[in-house]
Amino acid sequence: METKREHWGTRFGFIMAAAGSAVGLGNIWRFPYLTGANGGGAFILIYLGFIFLIGSTVMLAEFTVGRMTQKAAVGAYKSVSRNWTFAGVMGVLSAFLIMGFYPVVGGWATAYILKSVTGLLSDSAAIGDAFGAFISAPIQPLLWTVLFMLFNIFIVIRGVGKGIEMASKVLMPLLIILLLSVAGYGLTLPGAQEGIRFLFVPDFSAVTGNTFLSALGQAFFSLSLGMGCMVTYGSYLPKDSKLPSSAGVVTAMDTFFAILAGVAIFPALFAFGMEPAVGPGLVFVVVPQIFARMGFIGPVLSLVFFVALMIAALTSSVSLLEVVVAYLMDEKKWQRSKAVIATGLVMLVLCSLASLSLGIWSGWTIPGLGVGFFDFFDILTDKVFLAIGGLFLAVFAGFQLKKEDLYRELTNHGETTFPLFDAWYFLLKFIVPVAIGIVAIFGLLDIEQPVLMITGLVIIGLLALFSKKL
Ligand code: PHE
Repeated sequence: METKREHWGTRFGFIMAAAGSAVGLGNIWRFPYLTGANGGGAFILIYLGFIFLIGSTVMLAEFTVGRMTQKAAVGAYKSVSRNWTFAGVMGVLSAFLIMGFYPVVGGWATAYILKSVTGLLSDSAAIGDAFGAFISAPIQPLLWTVLFMLFNIFIVIRGVGKGIEMASKVLMPLLIILLLSVAGYGLTLPGAQEGIRFLFVPDFSAVTGNTFLSALGQAFFSLSLGMGCMVTYGSYLPKDSKLPSSAGVVTAMDTFFAILAGVAIFPALFAFGMEPAVGPGLVFVVVPQIFARMGFIGPVLSLVFFVALMIAALTSSVSLLEVVVAYLMDEKKWQRSKAVIATGLVMLVLCSLASLSLGIWSGWTIPGLGVGFFDFFDILTDKVFLAIGGLFLAVFAGFQLKKEDLYRELTNHGETTFPLFDAWYFLLKFIVPVAIGIVAIFGLLDIEQPVLMITGLVIIGLLALFSKKL
């Protein structure tokens, strides 16, 4: 029996949910450390270019495809042509892989809420070692991951409107307030201008082919693109909502949050004379060290910061869980509750592999690949699957779907106008595929893990051959 498809209750609710998906660890955890490692302003400039030309174009295409077909990732492709099923399946696979490490970091953030006020900040010199010891322990980080996954399950099991939309409507405005307070305080510190200069004055000497690949991967990751997430969210849109402005608002909000996270971190970082290029430990080591030097306000700001990080992560991970759940409901006719629990459990198994790969298995790498599970899930999705998934979506919408149908969907069958349609269509059909292709080639020439890239491409090939029945 077909049950009626769930829908968003209000336009505000949808925007909060989609922005909630986009704004996440990608903005607050990854964007700052990538910026720090890639020389600051120059990276941001390249990133912004990708966001506006490629990201917003693909975002609008994902919303359109989702609403037009009223189907989640796999069904959207499949309902048009079975030859495209694999592109949807690739999205579901990406959702599993991202959820194989993302909740681990979500669990760290949750743990750090408590640690902020239980003595972590009392010895600034020990913060780095404490982080290393925490994430490499076998059990403790896993328990926090389980807790974080339970929050996800609790929200997604309640459904689209009562679960995801409701949570996002409360949590996203809270997130803005929390981050603004941390950023505001950082800006008042003496020496903060140095951090602003680092963020906004580009220095191109650190830019390589890999910088472009990182910026492109980050653009897709941060906007939740290239894996069917925005297709799925778009499929819950009522027929009268305006797609172009929604895509614009969500893109703008995601960018705003990335910059805001940078402003919350770098001015304070430079004010205390610390190093920007420390990698993934940036928000868990350097940020607490900054707070530790602030006196009594430190633990309070630290608590606020990690609550913000956890919230941001949560509203994103629910969207990743929803991609798989929606697939199982649409294509396999599963009950929501069964889909949520089964999917959540599989994701927890993957998370355990990822978490252990940072601890007791840290010396072991996947044979031939040279990386452990955490890095494998992360690099494979961020540097291969998302950009290629975005490329497929652009080619699918640009070449497989009819231009008139897209136009009709985008203008709500003539109810509204979309003056930029031709520009958008040109970007989608030609610029996006070509740009992704060029960046991929540059990236491949300058890549740190060639075997991993090739593994990713082989997996995509296998999906193309064998996923027609899914
Ligand atoms: N956009 C999220 C973030 O920035 C991550 C994400 C990627 C969510 C892909 C959904 C799909 O953290």
